[in-house]
Amino acid sequence: MKARIAVLPGDGIGPEVTAAAVSVLRHVAAHGDHDFEFSEHAIGGCAIDAHGDPLPAETLIVCKQADAVLLGAVGGPQWSDPKAKLRPEQGLLRLRAELGVFANLRPVRVHARLAELSPLKTERLSGVDLMFVRELTGGAYFGAKTRTADTATDETRYTTAEIERVLRRAFQLARTRGRRVTSVDKANVLETSRLWRETAQRVAHEFPDVALEHQLVDSMAMLLLTRPAAYDVIVTENLFGDILTDEAAALAGSLGLLPSASLGEGTRGLYEPIHGSAPDIAGRGVANPLGAILSAALLLRHSLGLAGEAAAVEQAVDRVIDAGVFTRDLGGSAGTREATAAVLAALSERATAQEAA
Ligand code: NAD
Ligand code: IPM
Ligand code: MN
Repeated sequence: MKARIAVLPGDGIGPEVTAAAVSVLRHVAAHGDHDFEFSEHAIGGCAIDAHGDPLPAETLIVCKQADAVLLGAVGGPQWSDPKAKLRPEQGLLRLRAELGVFANLRPVRVHARLAELSPLKTERLSGVDLMFVRELTGGAYFGAKTRTADTATDETRYTTAEIERVLRRAFQLARTRGRRVTSVDKANVLETSRLWRETAQRVAHEFPDVALEHQLVDSMAMLLLTRPAAYDVIVTENLFGDILTDEAAALAGSLGLLPSASLGEGTRGLYEPIHGSAPDIAGRGVANPLGAILSAALLLRHSLGLAGEAAAVEQAVDRVIDAGVFTRDLGGSAGTREATAAVLAALSERATAQEAA
């Protein structure tokens, strides 16, 4: 198949992990007779420096014309002055909004070989297989902001339509998995959460084969650590989803492992690891590329309809972990390139085995 993929490396370790993901996609294209066309564009802090805009017009146009967008990370201390007019993160938020990618899928699995890296007891981790669905284009991130010398506000606003569409996506996903949805809110305090809960209850009638439960976000933060294997699909608003998924990364062993897919109504999607630009390790070739590579697998599945290729990449990553090729965040000494080469080798072995069969 033919596909246009816009690549936005961004800042910090963004370019390092994006290069890894692109090399995996090139490998998939070469071995599967696909024609993937890649083009790189600026976003974030480097785009502020080069173009005075964290989301230059050219980047946005290309992303809107692409079949999929692969992004590294944005941000860094040099652009973090609280008084700064332009921030790298604004570019990412605007891109999500402009692409209309309201559902951010963040799968979390715990690989048996990595269970000991989690601060949790190993037995609690067995069977953990979560799919977070984070609302991505509403809530406090996008509400009106005000600021005077001594007062600041961030409005949290949700409409029924915004809640319905992300809830439906969560229920649809649950049908392909364990048929359970946990909707997370703060309905005991927030009006937006009461609308969220009411809407979830109504949408649930459309999916009688899926079980819905509600959890308050504070309690959910605890339950993720005490009973992580008890949940299937967890759907929540933008801010809660941001926080809970970094927490969930601790179950998997490292933030560097977690991928994400941001989807709207069509098949075009935005794919990015959930981690940030990791300024503390940037430029040293030690970043874990697996979250970005697994994001490329999600791109193959959700935007290009290549489910077999996606599974092959995920299995290759599993085999690299089985083999103990670990970057530093996982307690190993492999560099970004070495870990990426191991994934490519695992993919090649599979291709050779298939040809031989
Ligand atoms: P971070 O995710 O960049 O880093 C948190 C910790 O995890 C650091 O110790 C880092 O070294 C480690 N880490 C993250 N990814 C890793 C990887 N692939 N391999 C190994 N270790 C990894 O979060 P932060 O330090 O809070 O934020 C840094 C900057 O990144 C901020 O400017 C923030 O706004 C931005 N950020 C961007 C995104 C994004 O672009 N999607 C996401 C989160 C944070
Ligand atoms: C993420 C990041 C972003 C978010 C920031 C950088 C805007 O933390 O993708 O999880 O909060 O959505
Ligand atoms: Mn985050």
